[in-house]
Amino acid sequence: MSNVCVFDHPLIQHKLSILRDKNTSVKEFREIISEIAMLMCYEATRDLPLEEVKVETPVDIAICKRISGKKLAVVPILRAGLGMVDGMVSMMPNVKVGHIGLFRDPETLEPVKYYFKMPPDIKERDAIVVDPMLATGGSASAAISFLKETGVRHIKLMSIIGAPEGVKKMQEDHPDVDIYVAALDDHLNEHGYIVPGLGDAGDRIFGTK
Ligand code: PRP
Ligand code: URA
Repeated sequence: MSNVCVFDHPLIQHKLSILRDKNTSVKEFREIISEIAMLMCYEATRDLPLEEVKVETPVDIAICKRISGKKLAVVPILRAGLGMVDGMVSMMPNVKVGHIGLFRDPETLEPVKYYFKMPPDIKERDAIVVDPMLATGGSASAAISFLKETGVRHIKLMSIIGAPEGVKKMQEDHPDVDIYVAALDDHLNEHGYIVPGLGDAGDRIFGTK
């Protein structure tokens, strides 16, 4: 069964309270989504393997540790996942980025794929899928199935808010995928929105409503 890690760090919780506020501007919303992604990235990459290296300081040789060439890809689910990419890239400047375009059919709430572009060596990479909202879990589960079809074996999911329904679906469909969220909310409403949530993440990042 996948682990669900809820980030209770005060900085993340403080920033999340600003994201949830319906009066937060598009500018501030974008900045904070990116900052939370950066803070979450720090924890979600805790298991990256290290190797020992010798570094010559001005004084002596220091035995240090560096990340041992682990190949990673960050995979945002369009559109809203794009808002988390800058934060991740600022922590891992050389990370490759693959894109999956999905939207939820407003009638059925089923995910519809409209774009899929991965780094050519994606099979050899571990992937961190990013999408601020894990609601029914349909989008995340479908995105991860598409990634697995290309041969990716190790995948993590990073969302800002999760609903119990989405976590359950992910655990049923992809028990091997660990889930990282800043908050687990109460339920979904009849339109598939997370309650209390933060509204439509894509619209709030891109100012489309
Ligand atoms: C939102 C969100 C997720 C999805 C979550 O995207 O960014 O991708 O809904 O819902 P689910 O867990 O029920 O699938 P949306 O379909 O609104 O598209 P957008 O990012 O282009 O706004
Ligand atoms: N997608 C969003 O952007 N917000 C929700 O609450 C649910 C799905």
